[in-house]
Amino acid sequence: MLLAANVSGILFLLLVRNVSVESVSVTAAVGDTVVLPCQINSNPEDVYWRYSDVRNVCNIIKGKADFNGQDPAFKDRVNIFPLEIKNGNFSIRLDKVSKSDEGPYICSAPSISLRENLELKVTATAEKVCVYAVINDSAVLPCEFKQNSQMVFWPYRDRRTVCDVINGAVDFDEQDPAYRDRV
Ligand SMILES: *[C@@H]1O[C@H](CO)[C@@H](O)[C@H](O)[C@H]1NC(C)=O
Ligand SMILES: *[C@@H]1O[C@H](CO)[C@@H](O)[C@H](O)[C@H]1NC(C)=O
Repeated sequence: MLLAANVSGILFLLLVRNVSVESVSVTAAVGDTVVLPCQINSNPEDVYWRYSDVRNVCNIIKGKADFNGQDPAFKDRVNIFPLEIKNGNFSIRLDKVSKSDEGPYICSAPSISLRENLELKVTATAEKVCVYAVINDSAVLPCEFKQNSQMVFWPYRDRRTVCDVINGAVDFDEQDPAYRDRV
């Protein structure tokens, strides 16, 4: 449980950081809601959001979202920020991000020949790390948290305890015999 909470905390920080620096690359985790930024310093009538050049994400026509011709993959997942349009903010919000949303997006305003490119990167909800070891060798299973935790549990397949780390000391009370004298 602690592990899951901490891992999603790290991913949330990643998401916030990438959006707020207004880089052309935006990172989100599977299941997240993400803002795809598009700031235009003039007031075009129509703005078109496309994925992979051709697939219609949404149109913003005279300040209103228009979902005519929208690709079914984005149905009910895209919102604009109507109150922000007058400030030239044509960003959209994409809900329930999935791995297949990853890729290049374009925000374009043909009337003023403007075309903004951005890349959405989608990470897994919990990062998996792969460690290779040779039989009879020692292996290090890495685990690092950004903040301190008084209790850390190491279950194998969610049930067999490898060890626990309580207040900075290793605790073998619940250890599965398969791991005795090996951790
Ligand atoms: C555009 O509006 C969204 C939603 O309010 C906001 O998150 C984003 O920071 C705004 N972008 C700019 C450049 O102000
Ligand atoms: C691992 O060590 C055991 C005990 O020393 C030995 O019997 C076995 O052959 C070793 N296995 C391999 C693959 O080296």
